[in-house]
Amino acid sequence: MPFPKAELHLHIEGTLEPELAFALAARNGVVLPFADTDELRRAYLFKDLQSFLDLYYALMAVLRTEDDFAALADAYLARVATQGVRHAEIFFDPQAHTSRGVAFGTVVEGLARALERAEERHGISTRLIMCFLRDESAESAMRTLEAAKPYLDRITGVGLDSAEVGHPPSKFREVYEAAAALGLRRVAHAGEEGPPAYIVEALDLLGVERIDHGLRCMEDPELVERLVRERIPLTLCPLSNVRLRVIDVLEEHPLARMMQAGLMCTVNSDDPAYFGGYIGDTFHAVREALDLGNEQLRELARNSFLASFLEDDEERRAALLAEVEAYDFERDR
Ligand code: ADE
Ligand code: ZN
Repeated sequence: MPFPKAELHLHIEGTLEPELAFALAARNGVVLPFADTDELRRAYLFKDLQSFLDLYYALMAVLRTEDDFAALADAYLARVATQGVRHAEIFFDPQAHTSRGVAFGTVVEGLARALERAEERHGISTRLIMCFLRDESAESAMRTLEAAKPYLDRITGVGLDSAEVGHPPSKFREVYEAAAALGLRRVAHAGEEGPPAYIVEALDLLGVERIDHGLRCMEDPELVERLVRERIPLTLCPLSNVRLRVIDVLEEHPLARMMQAGLMCTVNSDDPAYFGGYIGDTFHAVREALDLGNEQLRELARNSFLASFLEDDEERRAALLAEVEAYDFERDR
């Protein structure tokens, strides 16, 4: 069995495989602008974050019913259960659905149905994190938070995603204050395509506990020092960074340098259907490309549980951490 790990940066809509997209399109009478799965896969050549987002949002047209969202999450969970995932904190983009006329409740009820049976079926505990689309207005984000209120028993936190440059965290200060007042945990994408200053804003103005991506912190030594001192977890997504041209090749990914600098790094898959690998595949690729040793892998696995929102189940966190310490990483070669 692969080593135990938590996934902390995963957009459930980014797990929509071409086969499921076509099956749901047929079921819902949606016509996709691609002849078949091969033609769709050939479109997965991105030049930047926006070119990916255009396809990512377009394909969501096939997701219409509670059953669709449950099928999407079921497929993801079944797949990563074979890759050692024991805990998953899953992002979803409510505005990308409500703007198409799909009710907030349809999305949450469908996803939650799959998540609730994951522990029994696959031994995976889960949390749900709703992301605000940063290229939409702050008012729209606030309305989305309002729509979430009947479902807060199933939502652990809020995040911030979509097109980063030109949409700084400061735009969402009031929304994050309101989310905190509702007892929601806070994370945000920052420093993926955007500058290190966005990471500082996310910490200081939004009060986030983790930074999603954050790799551009490496351009600001003072910020690195702060992130190390405050032990702020970074949810890195190396395969995503290559596919979205944030870096040129995996061999140049700063992960190993970031770990050496003392940063609390985790490795995640982001949008695995689009970026060439789920989390186990991602670990295998970075292990090869960056020549990571067993103890570095153990640190990454340990960090994934330490950085997770398992505060309401410290017993489970302790048990998973003990599994990490006991694991022989040679077995996962
Ligand atoms: N939405 C889905 N994947 C994303 C990413 N890598 N960055 C920003 N928004 C996203
Ligand atoms: Zn992401």
